[in-house]
Amino acid sequence: MQITVVEHPLIKHKLSKMRDINSTSRDFREWLDEIAMLMTYEVTRDLELDEMPVQTPICETTGYKLHNNIVVVPILRAGLGLLSGVLRMIPNAHVGHIGLYRDEKTLEPHEYYCKIPPDKDPITIVVDPMLATGGSAIDAITQIKKHGAKRIKFIGLIAAPEGIKALHEAHPDVDIYLGAQDDHLNENGYIVPGLGDAGDRIYGTK
Ligand code: PRP
Ligand code: URA
Repeated sequence: MQITVVEHPLIKHKLSKMRDINSTSRDFREWLDEIAMLMTYEVTRDLELDEMPVQTPICETTGYKLHNNIVVVPILRAGLGLLSGVLRMIPNAHVGHIGLYRDEKTLEPHEYYCKIPPDKDPITIVVDPMLATGGSAIDAITQIKKHGAKRIKFIGLIAAPEGIKALHEAHPDVDIYLGAQDDHLNENGYIVPGLGDAGDRIYGTK
């Protein structure tokens, strides 16, 4: 399906500040939250609507509501940094959680938690700031599909070409939305130029 780099001056501006090694965790979280809202605008652009009657103070008119339930699934930990921005735009969404960490040596993802809401035919939005090898996003989406989700979108802040290719090959039906496509992965599996370890920068753990 589609791979979209959301080209927006506000995203470029905020993301550049997030990349800066001297930015604080507090500022980093705030910019991530703001970018999540901007990206949600783009990711939800093609959602289906149902018509419904609305009585204004003047007359009856046609209004609209979202056709599908929305489920948002952050990949723990760093994905949590995108959650509140998405929820501010879609406050009725249900939330699933997938806990994965990447082994520092093998770069293989290890799952430690999974809880997905039982909505019928939802649009599922998986969020994780970093798409590096793609292993974490691929595993998370495989799990989500096992829970019945059919229509899935992925929001990432920064991706390496290697991760985009791997995710697209593993799950070609998933729409991918990114804030930026970076250059490559380094020998430790970090995105270059990237922003370092997203979880550590959000939570101040390093
Ligand atoms: C980071 C990031 C992604 C993953 C990306 O999480 O948030 O989930 O790495 O790498 P991949 O595409 O090569 O799988 P990490 O494993 O560091 O865990 P954390 O969010 O708990 O810090
Ligand atoms: N995970 C991160 O947090 N950063 C990277 O550059 C790669 C994986």
